[in-house]
Amino acid sequence: MKEILERLELKRHDARMGGGQARIDAQHARGKLTARERIDLLLDEESFEEYDMFVEHRCTDFGMAETKYPGDGVVTGSGTINGRLVYVYSQDFTVFGGSLSATHAQKIIKVMDMAMKVGAPVIGLNDSGGARIQEGVAALGGYADVFQKNVLASGVVPQISMIMGPCAGGAVYSPAMTDFIFMVEDSSYMFVTGPDVVKTVTNEVVTQEELGGASTHTTKSGVADKSFENDVEALAQLRRFFDFLPLNNREKPPVRPTFDRPDRIEASLDSVVPSNANKPYDMHEVIEKVVDEGDFFELQPRHAGNIIIGLARMDGETVGIVANQPMVLAGCLDIDSSKKAARFVRFCDCFNIPIVTLVDVPGFLPGTAQEYGGIIKHGAKLLFAYGEATVPKITVITRKAYGGAYDVMASKHLRGDLNYAWPTAEIAVMGAKGAVEILYRKEKDDPEKIAARTKEYEDHFANPFVAAQRGFIDEVIMPHSTRRRIIRGLKKLANKHLENPWKKHDNIPL
Ligand code: HXC
Repeated sequence: MKEILERLELKRHDARMGGGQARIDAQHARGKLTARERIDLLLDEESFEEYDMFVEHRCTDFGMAETKYPGDGVVTGSGTINGRLVYVYSQDFTVFGGSLSATHAQKIIKVMDMAMKVGAPVIGLNDSGGARIQEGVAALGGYADVFQKNVLASGVVPQISMIMGPCAGGAVYSPAMTDFIFMVEDSSYMFVTGPDVVKTVTNEVVTQEELGGASTHTTKSGVADKSFENDVEALAQLRRFFDFLPLNNREKPPVRPTFDRPDRIEASLDSVVPSNANKPYDMHEVIEKVVDEGDFFELQPRHAGNIIIGLARMDGETVGIVANQPMVLAGCLDIDSSKKAARFVRFCDCFNIPIVTLVDVPGFLPGTAQEYGGIIKHGAKLLFAYGEATVPKITVITRKAYGGAYDVMASKHLRGDLNYAWPTAEIAVMGAKGAVEILYRKEKDDPEKIAARTKEYEDHFANPFVAAQRGFIDEVIMPHSTRRRIIRGLKKLANKHLENPWKKHDNIPL
């Protein structure tokens, strides 16, 4: 008996060594942790339970029959993060460069199936050279099986990808279908075709980092939601992020006790909006002063900065924050910001996370670049996302809410549950200057008349009361009591029940 036990321990030891000490050292030399070290940092101590430690590939071509490693390049299993269940897979670059074989794919699918069965999120730690070249189409099939599972799991359990090494070719499409992509700076990259192919096809010379590094995807493309300096920071932040999320689409997000009083008055909010309507202010300040302990997990902070999205808590309960940012493009909605916010609104709606929207929007960004790029369709994404969302929706207009953008930003008309405005709110079809130029075109050469008309328009519309008279705004509130109002609203809406008409699925303008 003792011998059998020892044999098991030996086999386990072999599996834990992955591709061997030399490759582990090479991984460390690049500043990367191994697949197992990453899991240890991500999960609560001693909580990891591994599946399929002894799975081996079945390829016999190209001398592969003689080269087998137990586990086949991916460590899979379950564990807990602050006591809550999660399923994980972590690709092991020390085994065939973490490349995906048919069996490697089956291991990933097994944890995804389990996660969906019991209702727990899936976290993938990606570090892979892509399809296992020796396996050919078997590996491609494996990828497609994972993709299909990603699709089925979407909206059922949260799926999170952390890119911690290469992720190239078709391999990018599994993370792309998960809810969030995070990246590690300098050691990870994602692209559909690498620099060499790009050079051959388009003659462009570009480095790996420029083409698909963390800085590219967190700024230009918006593919990644956030990046972190190194593996250790990335995994610590992932633990923090996980705490905001519900385990599945039938559960509410966890409630974390807070010392921050729900009725906290924040007097400084009364002076945050400048008296000059054209002057910007930082909407981050408003968010941080309203949410619990100023703790805001911002997503895509460096992409489409004209809209701010992220998760926070209000009296312990997770909320999704969507806010226009007057500091960037005056807070206008454009293609990138619409897409960024729309996907986030849909994520919140999938997973029962109430949405708090802070509005200061002068309209959609004008210009040929926007029109040619399809702002009509992209702007409609955000409109659609808000319109279909059935989670509690609380909106606070801090200043401008002009034109179509007023409608889009969780207005009463899109089933906003509580629509508040600060006294500084201006709700109108457009700004006074633009309106007067159109309405009184004939008087354009008479500056005195124009000034009088502008004042008249401002007096009429540059306030929240016309909208409040119609009931489009439920109440005009003091900025200092915003936190108290939102929290009371969330409590009232805790049992909100709203269903959309039956359909197979909707047809959001993609
Ligand atoms: C099998 C692979 C591999 C792969 C790497 N290795 N990628 N084995 N299949 N795809 C192995 C190497 O042979 C090597 O083995 C070890 O992993 C480490 O690789 P190195 O090249 O030494 O490491 P590095 O210099 O860091 O380069 C990493 C790399 C490079 C950039 C990822 O290995 C590379 O370009 N690999 C091929 C990438 C690729 O073209 N994949 C297919 C993409 S198409 P030893 O034994 O020496 O340690 C694709 C299609 C998916 O994925 C489609 C889905 C629809």
